[in-house]
Amino acid sequence: MDNSSASEAASGVRRRFQNGKASDLRLFVGSFVHATKDDPMVMLTNTILGVSSKHIAFLEPIEKLEEIKAMYEIPDLNVIFMTGSQFMIPGFIDTHIHAPQFPNNGLKLNLPLLDWLQNYTFPTEARLSDENYAKQLYPRVVDRLLRNGTTTASYFASLHLPATKILADTVKEKGQRGLVGKVSMLMNSPDYYKENSLEESVKENEEFILYVRSLNTPLVLPIVTPRFAPTCHAEQLKALGQLAKKYQCHVQSHLSETRPELSWVKELFPWSESYTDVYHKCELLGPKTIMAHGVWLDDAEVKVLKESGVGISHCPNSNISIRSGLCNVRRLLDSGVKVGLGTDCSGGYSSSILDSIRQAVQTSNTLAIFDSKLQHLPLSEIFRLATLGGAEVVAMDDKIGNFEVGKEFDALLIDLTAADSPVDCEDQDSLDDRIQRFLLNGDDRNIIEVYVAGVKVHDRRPT
Ligand code: GUN
Ligand code: ZN
Repeated sequence: MDNSSASEAASGVRRRFQNGKASDLRLFVGSFVHATKDDPMVMLTNTILGVSSKHIAFLEPIEKLEEIKAMYEIPDLNVIFMTGSQFMIPGFIDTHIHAPQFPNNGLKLNLPLLDWLQNYTFPTEARLSDENYAKQLYPRVVDRLLRNGTTTASYFASLHLPATKILADTVKEKGQRGLVGKVSMLMNSPDYYKENSLEESVKENEEFILYVRSLNTPLVLPIVTPRFAPTCHAEQLKALGQLAKKYQCHVQSHLSETRPELSWVKELFPWSESYTDVYHKCELLGPKTIMAHGVWLDDAEVKVLKESGVGISHCPNSNISIRSGLCNVRRLLDSGVKVGLGTDCSGGYSSSILDSIRQAVQTSNTLAIFDSKLQHLPLSEIFRLATLGGAEVVAMDDKIGNFEVGKEFDALLIDLTAADSPVDCEDQDSLDDRIQRFLLNGDDRNIIEVYVAGVKVHDRRPT
């Protein structure tokens, strides 16, 4: 959206807004970068973004500043001017992360997926049977994500109902937007780390859904979370599909991550046409379903995902770190499948979406090196995946993902000259240069403020 169409869109909102209290309104003045449906990276300079409570009320050119301030009687205190080295982007969306695996971040990447799960991951997740441990670990996880600029996350928790409730409480308390799922698994899992029965699995999932709803915040939602087909028999998958339908919930799982997994799924579900077909026949696929990885999908599976409206969480760090494969995101996007980015900690060693952006760039470049017919994804398109693409995958693109008028204000204030900044800039850098430098060289030191639904949830500067 350019400044003039933003201005047109704003006039309608201004009419709606006129009854609002001036004290509700805050103006952010400076440069903004976001993705739209038509353009993966739109640059808005000399722009005023008006926030009324949690919503983006208007975008206007800077020339209108005095007029707007007078019209709404906005005190100077509510006008935030960015410096020349600062700009705002939409909050990052992590479409796939395992909160209980945080203690393994950066460790234990020597085994392939199935051995990695048995030897490292299940024992680590099993520690969440201790609620006190959950109360120590989960605030650290959410804080780390917020300071990395993740305003929305889709969390896998562990099998444990009490600890998973603590994760939902923590996401609410910290003001993050999140989907939180109690993991379900009944087979091919160690005795010390599996649910007791199908009945109990469904009962606890239902209790969790109702618990999250009772938190009474629009920011935290439950998500039905069968771990992946090999650990859930068809009856369990079907029961969870029914539960998601009954409560109109999101669903998340893993799909087609490694080649050994494909042959195992074929053995376990001989009636299925493919890995995707297992979930499809168990009625788990829909527009609110997030499937992580999707590295080894065949064309028929891609078609089913597109037709069902399923989103793929591309987790490039994990795909490379545990040597699962290189996901051809260009193929998914060209087929009309929604794609966002995921960190997949601790299969991926970094909890930062900035890292996922870089690993997505390198994955796409590597695929293009080996197949000269394949067009690499430009950085701008990968920025779109981290923001608006992620919003599509979590089925919240009507609310978040960019700075369109009417959406909620989930945003990051970026400063390339922040204290200890790892980014080297040149005086003549354009906004285009600055966003690229941030995406490829920046880190959490450059993310100086984080907003979710209009509320500042992280501020790097000392108060
Ligand atoms: N497949 C099933 N569980 C997991 C997990 O925890 N991490 C990853 N990367 N893949 C999985
Ligand atoms: Zn995962």
